[in-house]
This record gives sequence, structure tokens and C-alpha cells, in this order.
Amino acid sequence: MNKRVLIIGACGQIGSELTLKLRDIYGNKNVIASDIRTGNKELMKSGPFEIVNAMDYDSIANIVENYNITDVYLMAAMLSATGEKFPDKAWQLNMNSLFNVLNLAKEGKIKKLFWPSSIAVFGSTTPKENTPQETVMEPSTVYGISKLAGERWCEYYHNKFGVDVRSVRYPGIISWKTKPGGGTTDYAVEIFHKALISGKYTCFLKEDTKLPMMYMNDAIDATLKIMQAPSSQIKIRSSYNLAAFSFTPKDLSEEIKKIVPEFEILYNPDFRQKIADSWPKSIDDSRSRGDWGWNYKFDIKKMSEEMLNNLYLKYEIV
Ligand code: SER
Repeated sequence: MNKRVLIIGACGQIGSELTLKLRDIYGNKNVIASDIRTGNKELMKSGPFEIVNAMDYDSIANIVENYNITDVYLMAAMLSATGEKFPDKAWQLNMNSLFNVLNLAKEGKIKKLFWPSSIAVFGSTTPKENTPQETVMEPSTVYGISKLAGERWCEYYHNKFGVDVRSVRYPGIISWKTKPGGGTTDYAVEIFHKALISGKYTCFLKEDTKLPMMYMNDAIDATLKIMQAPSSQIKIRSSYNLAAFSFTPKDLSEEIKKIVPEFEILYNPDFRQKIADSWPKSIDDSRSRGDWGWNYKFDIKKMSEEMLNNLYLKYEIV
């Protein structure tokens, strides 16, 4: 049977790039993008698109049936910072959407499911450096609680009902095409835009706040790799630790200054500082490397160059 893919949350930061990549691989008409709102031109023009609320089981089930969907990527979620402002909504969206797709898989209507977890599953009692795959997990944000609960449900549906669900714990994802929204790691994207537009950025985290990060190309690569691996290689059915590099706002500003020497960073920490302080500083992803061959390609230098080069073109700065 041919692969037919549905992405829920296709207009978001990761979804918008993942959709285009999946269309390259499986063919435009075999990759159905969906979201609660329409997306950018490139996404809308390159293949089928459906408006869908990730919490509405019936409309997702209809799309799955109409398009003979085999694989679903559930990318819709409310992230850590927005989740603290709307805890009920965050819980409802993050959990209901996951149950919808887990149940579709349980009922045999889809074959394979990707659902991302996050470094937010860890909390202040977790070892901060080289955080192991299996460790203390006491998340303090609604987002983190929903991702940890989701991980347990993924493993449960796999063990109990044989659902082929695969997941990675994304670190902060840095990209230039679509901006992230509502996350604690978003500063690492905003900083590049501001560096080019005004040469100045006021960071909402302290200068020494070290967090695990990754460039979008590697995040997409990991997502495709874990989904393409033979099922027998996926030994962890909750979610895999995944890492590239870690840095502080100060480290990143130094890197940007190498290319934009006049760049200036100021610090004005807000409620997101507490969230960041509860998360790991670096992640041990040896299980991903060993089980399904994960390896990252972009370090902080290469990522910063790519970000600035692409944003220069986007803003038509010459
Ligand atoms: N980038 C996310 C956030 O900051 C973490 O998964 O909420």
C-alpha cells in the first residue's frame, strides 16, 4: 500500500517545513497538510490542505478515510509559555489531540504515528547535565506535564494495542522559515530577526541560561529517520532523548556578533526564566544514536550562519 501522510498542525514552526520535506519524499498529492488556520503560500500551493481542529476526532477520522491516510504526524500543541497562561486549553489541546490519533491507530485506521515530546518533560529535580533517557521526571509546566502524560500514553497504546507510535523529545528548535510561537526557547529565533532588523535584542532569559537546542534541518532529519526505521529498531515507545548542542543567550550573541559586529544584547528576564531554569542544560541522546542511527549535522556556528544568510535574503538586506 502506498504511503499517504497527514500532518496535523502543518502551519506551525516545525509542521510547515516537515510538510514540504514529506512532499518531496512521498509526492505532493500524497501528503495532506492540515491546521486550524491556513499557512504560507509555499505550503498551501504545494499540495492538499484541510482545515481541521486537532481536538475534533470526527473531522480527523473523515480526512483519514477520504485520503486513505497511512501515517499521521501530530504537530499541533500549545507550548510552554502560552500553556502557563492558558493551562486548561493547553491540557485539552495537547491531550485530546493525542488521544484522537492514538485511537485512530488503535482502531487500525492508520498504520504509524509520530508525536513529538520535549525537553519540557524534565523538571528541577532532574539531573541537569547530560540528562539521561531514564531519570527523575517532575515537570512543572502544564506543557511539560502534558508531554510526560502523553509519553506514558504512547507507551501504553504500543504495549496494550500494538500501536506503532514513535516520538522524540525535541530540544529548542531554531529555524528561519516560520517563527515559533509561545515557547521558552523562542528567544533563540527572535534574536536573529532582531539582529538584522534593529541590531539590538532584549532577551527574556538571563545571559547564562544554558538550554539544549537544535537547527530545524536536524529536527526534520531526526523525525524522518525515526519514522523510516524498521519497527524492531524502535526500542523506546515513550519518547527518545534527542540532542545537538547547548548554549546560553550570551554564547549565541557572541556567535551572532562574529557576523553582525554591531549587534547588541540586553537582558530583561520574565516568567519564562523560571521555566528555563527547570529544564536540562544538556541531553544524553545515546539511545537515539544507538537504536536508529541519530546524529546531528549543524553546530551553533553552522546554524548561526545559515540563519543569518537565509534571513538576509528574506528581509532583502544586501
Ligand atoms: N520549544 C519548546 C518550548 O519552549 C520546548 O519544547 O516550549
